[in-house]
Amino acid sequence: MQPIPYGHQSIDEDDINAVENALQSDWLTTGPKVEEFEHSIRDYCLCGHAVAVNSGTSALDIAIQSLDLRPGSEVITTPFTFAATSNALLYSDLTPVYADITRGTRNIDPDDVRRKISDKTGAVLFVDFAGHPCDISPLREMCTKKDIFLIEDASHALGAEYSGKKIGTLADMTIFSFHPVKLITTGEGGMVTTNDSRRAERLRLLRTHGIDKNDHHLSGSGASWAYDMVALGRNYRITDIQAALGISQAKKIDLFIRRRTELARLYSDLLQDFPGIEVPVTQGDVTHAWHLYTVLLSGVRRDVVFSYLKSHDISVNLHYIPTYHFSYYRKNHPTDPSLFPVTEDVFSRILTLPLFPGLREQEVMAIADILKKAMRQFALP
Ligand SMILES: Cc1ncc(COP(=O)(O)O)c(C=O)c1O
Repeated sequence: MQPIPYGHQSIDEDDINAVENALQSDWLTTGPKVEEFEHSIRDYCLCGHAVAVNSGTSALDIAIQSLDLRPGSEVITTPFTFAATSNALLYSDLTPVYADITRGTRNIDPDDVRRKISDKTGAVLFVDFAGHPCDISPLREMCTKKDIFLIEDASHALGAEYSGKKIGTLADMTIFSFHPVKLITTGEGGMVTTNDSRRAERLRLLRTHGIDKNDHHLSGSGASWAYDMVALGRNYRITDIQAALGISQAKKIDLFIRRRTELARLYSDLLQDFPGIEVPVTQGDVTHAWHLYTVLLSGVRRDVVFSYLKSHDISVNLHYIPTYHFSYYRKNHPTDPSLFPVTEDVFSRILTLPLFPGLREQEVMAIADILKKAMRQFALP
């Protein structure tokens, strides 16, 4: 068997032609493809505005920066995510306050969020783990009542739906990532969506040095050459080459999700009755994007099973090491892991199996067989 990665991009001739055309155009960056890509995501999600940047991390950074929260304000978030989610808070001198997760979906637990909200809370930043939308209604209700922001890290969930609405329209801002293992790819890339036009303007400013080209007040109205830097922005621009790839990839979001869903169902059919394997659940009125397929193991040492699958050329993975375990966080934001019993339990037993549109049914069957073999071979007495 060929080595199987845990995630992989799907690139076809149309994607290659789109990139080639962009390379032959007059614009490698700040050209028309960026806006076209933004419009394709905006029209797909049916949201007001989409602002494209060079990574999901940059999207998180400008989204959080645009809130203008007082330094030291608290933001309630999940520890069960990629480091970038919490890091975005630190870039803006904000304090992450973690809430525990729910075992079935591994998403943030709205009841624990409610317990953690205080006068210092400026926002709630949640993640749609593996592409399963979080239970947004209670979070929305809490945030509206407390007059705080609700931000969605939907890096895993482009194309997913909650109560019949596409992810990208429900929070005050939603973040997407286009890293190669994600739902669609631009190599590196990200997007922030929002229905608020003033916020979209602010995001555009922050992605390009905080420079306002329409602001001539410093040099007088006749000075059409003038511009002003009105905020401390960055260069987070995405290129037209990447945007061209994104436009082509965006046409296939539903196709990719359909394929991921078929493969996830096959995994669940093969694994759900096997002792010691807990397959992922889909809860509530949602459409899952199936970015990741994760199982919880019991009656074995997960690490032994992990190594066994690796030794059979199956690139299993572990999503995620809770953020508060990292040395940087232990030093600068010490958090007692025992306060997050569900996160700790899930972390100790979780395993990510390969899932991407190009994966074949026979490969899923072979992976399931090898996993079951490992479960039998290494069962604890
Ligand atoms: C939940 C989550 N947030 C943010 C990011 C960061 O996205 P990017 O890699 O595009 O910077 C990732 C990427 O892995 C992610 O999984």
